[in-house]
Amino acid sequence: MSEDELIIVANRLPVEAVTGPTGEVTWKVSPGGLVAAVEPSLKGRQGVWIGWNGHYETPGESTLPPIPETADNRDYRIAEVPLKRQDVELYYDGFSNSALWPLYHDAIATPIYHRNEFDAYRRANMLFAQAAARAAAPGATVWVHDYQLQLVPAMLRSLRPDLRIGFFLHIPFPAPDLFLQLPWRRAIVLGILGADLVGFQTTGGARNFLAVTERLLGWPAKSNIVEVPGAHGGRRESKVGAFAVSVDVDRLDRLARSPETANRAQQLRKDLGSPRTILLGVDRLDYTKGIDVRLRAYTELLEEKRLDPAETVLVQVATPSRENVDEYQRIRDDVELIVGHANGSLGRIGAPAIHYVRDSLPIEELMALYQAADIMLVTPLRDGMNLVAKEYVASRINDDGALVLSEFTGAAREMPQSWLVNPYDMDGVKEAIVAAANAGHDEKRRRMRAMRAHLLKHDVQRWAAEFIDQLTTTTET
Ligand code: G6P
Repeated sequence: MSEDELIIVANRLPVEAVTGPTGEVTWKVSPGGLVAAVEPSLKGRQGVWIGWNGHYETPGESTLPPIPETADNRDYRIAEVPLKRQDVELYYDGFSNSALWPLYHDAIATPIYHRNEFDAYRRANMLFAQAAARAAAPGATVWVHDYQLQLVPAMLRSLRPDLRIGFFLHIPFPAPDLFLQLPWRRAIVLGILGADLVGFQTTGGARNFLAVTERLLGWPAKSNIVEVPGAHGGRRESKVGAFAVSVDVDRLDRLARSPETANRAQQLRKDLGSPRTILLGVDRLDYTKGIDVRLRAYTELLEEKRLDPAETVLVQVATPSRENVDEYQRIRDDVELIVGHANGSLGRIGAPAIHYVRDSLPIEELMALYQAADIMLVTPLRDGMNLVAKEYVASRINDDGALVLSEFTGAAREMPQSWLVNPYDMDGVKEAIVAAANAGHDEKRRRMRAMRAHLLKHDVQRWAAEFIDQLTTTTET
């Protein structure tokens, strides 16, 4: 391995195993924004992606075949971190997704803190750090990702002080008063500061992190650089910044312009009964996404006849996620109750009010759906960025369509020309949907053009290049 190669360390590998009805295993792209963002930044580059294969392995059970190390369309290698069922339950379902995820999303659900889960988090982080230490050539660059691996940068530095280490948090970093609840707050901040460069989605996230660093450790930042005591009484620098993650605009644009996508979009509109207005939501089935908010707003608008039920449909695609965690079972029940209620009282035979798909759809099908949709509804209560909003904008090659977007997403900073909403304000959400539905062609075009102009210049390749450039220059001596 040469010095130019990049090592990605993320909880999830970019592919996950799907076992078919006859037991055959195929690999499909893993869900979520992280994989969507990091995958294209590695394309055409040599390197290694270190992660978990998404399975809960039980001793004695037949194990999955290893993921092919390389595949035709992939230049980098895959290195699996083996995690036992119990590790995954405590580290992933437990500390990562029942404590950190809700805490970092403004405690929308109550974070649950268990000491044994944090111990498992520490152990799992060490396994990832050791795997990276084994894979990295002398002086190599390692990029660690997201909230599941916040201890890895410092662990890896103590194993391999010669490496350049970057860390990026894909989710929000919360306000100091919230973060300070965390019993292991010092360990987490020290873990992250093991990196030479620490990236957040927004300047607000970076500011929050610097504030807790000063408060907990007494280390103030100068021009976003924190001086960290190093080995043998020395000091090193950790730089903190904001890097807004994005999408692979070129690839999405190619897909959007393909005749297959246009035909499929037309077919979808027909299958939906050729209504005047199609509204669309696409999310992981997560309580942070505000799926219930938009479904309620839409149902009320139909009931009040402010949207015509004969002329309007809503499609909600919800990708199953973290199904072993109670809060995720709860949000699924809530969403399905709202869909059932809306279809029971407002739908007709052959014409449901809400088309609900609980599945993960390939990007080709999503692009056709985006093109078929007149209004895209993105209403999270809190979201680090939200790449669905950017994918929708990338799909609108004719500068049409309308985006209703929550103020509490990172994407809202970059897309102020959308119809911005406060998802806690039901009347406000309803007003925005009606305004988007009634907007004239010119207004929609003006807004979409501005959003597309920004997106075209800020694609995911630029995000990755800026982070890696800064990481390389930060650590040059
Ligand atoms: C978000 C997180 C990622 C995570 C993804 C999917 O995008 O930031 O770290 O991989 O959701 O969630 P999952 O738990 O299925 O990996």
